[in-house]
Amino acid sequence: LKYHVVIPAAGQGKRMNAGKNKQFLLIDQVPLLIHTLRVFEEDLLCSGIVLAVNEMEIEEIETLVKEYRITKVKNIVKGGKERQQSVNEGLKAIHGNPVVLIHDGARPFIRREIIRELVQTTDANGAAVAGVPVKDTIKQVQGQEIVATVDRSSLWSIQTPQAFHLEEISYAHQMAEKQGFLGTDDASLMEKLNRPVAIVQGDYENIKITTPEDLLFAEAIIKKRKGEVD
Ligand code: CTP
Ligand code: MG
Repeated sequence: LKYHVVIPAAGQGKRMNAGKNKQFLLIDQVPLLIHTLRVFEEDLLCSGIVLAVNEMEIEEIETLVKEYRITKVKNIVKGGKERQQSVNEGLKAIHGNPVVLIHDGARPFIRREIIRELVQTTDANGAAVAGVPVKDTIKQVQGQEIVATVDRSSLWSIQTPQAFHLEEISYAHQMAEKQGFLGTDDASLMEKLNRPVAIVQGDYENIKITTPEDLLFAEAIIKKRKGEVD
């Protein structure tokens, strides 16, 4: 079962505070975005990649894609102000392939086994997202005061990839745009339409590179994986 992937990479990387889009930061001497692209380049089930990028960065990204021989990038589209808009623009560039994955450019450590499970679950159940059970105790706070301790057993941290049927997620994005609804992930747009979304247990290593400490974690994950056989 083949799939297409939309990779939003059109953010600013404000929390990274690197003075440029974090997608260009080097991890183990290779740009962050290239790490992410390589996973899909090497996955036989991936039939094409659509990238959403900032208009000012299109050329620089095209150059990187060539330099690192990423052959599956079919389209590079202009991203929007919000991630949701970037994804929507990416979706519009896909035709035909029924299953589509949406995956953050800033999550370089996604494993192919999880991608496989997401695609299979989507084929069977309609939609699936990667996530991990929360590890910390979660409390509800008002002002400076704890209001409640939330039961952790039903709480998951949600990651990407998120996998859908192209037609359904495109429709969900169109509806959200029309209603001015801005969700924090793509699954929430499906939930708004009461469409079921399954969860696939992901991997705590599938971090999103967000703040400067994440670069240290990233180096550690790479070091660990270098000691693993593929
Ligand atoms: N993204 C995007 N278009 C936007 C905003 C974000 O394509 N308008 C992408 C980012 O490039 C990233 C992914 O969505 O790959 C997840 O977003 P996030 O981690 O928040 O990245 P940034 O928005 O770049 O970072 P920050 O919020 O700290 O500015
Ligand atoms: Mg952001």
